[in-house]
Amino acid sequence: MASTTTTTRRSRTRNGNGHGLSPEPQYAKLGIEVQPFSEMRSLPIGLDESVRAESAELLNEILADTTILYALYKKHHWNVAGPTFYQLHLLFDKHAEEQAELVDLLAERVQSLGGIAVGDPRHAAELTTIERAPDGAEDVPAQITRLLQAHETIIGKVRDGIETTEKSKDWGSNDLLMGDVLRRHELQVWFIAEHLVDVPLVED
Ligand SMILES: [Fe+2]
Repeated sequence: MASTTTTTRRSRTRNGNGHGLSPEPQYAKLGIEVQPFSEMRSLPIGLDESVRAESAELLNEILADTTILYALYKKHHWNVAGPTFYQLHLLFDKHAEEQAELVDLLAERVQSLGGIAVGDPRHAAELTTIERAPDGAEDVPAQITRLLQAHETIIGKVRDGIETTEKSKDWGSNDLLMGDVLRRHELQVWFIAEHLVDVPLVED
């Protein structure tokens, strides 16, 4: 027992005081921002700061809405009920995963421009223009209608963003909005809108 204590003291002396290193975590002081949300950092991608800031702002608005749409798909994935439960349960989850991919693409584009991507869902909730769903469960037609309205809100901003980034020649953001975001939304709208069509499975 005595020799164990001696060994421990020796190693503490060697590791802690002998060379100035410590195994203890060095916790940081919180709340100091390296870069404020409203400021851009300089990156050499051949675009003026004003262009990068304009694109980052519009992309962050779409990112905030996309974060909310992702959560809305998960909410409906959990709350869906009725005869179409299984297929919609799976479809809503697939769309949620695809929206999560768009969240990452949009966020990393904002960072590539020198901006700060909206990350905290509570920050996204402050910026989004998508109406908040009730905390309880809605029926399937209301769930799908709500999703379609959210898609249309985002698609409108994406179309505006495509025009803006074309004028400013921010082709990276333009390509992302047209090739990844717009097409994914249009496809998802088709897949869920068809569930609102009242067509019998067989002839009467
Ligand atoms: Fe699940």
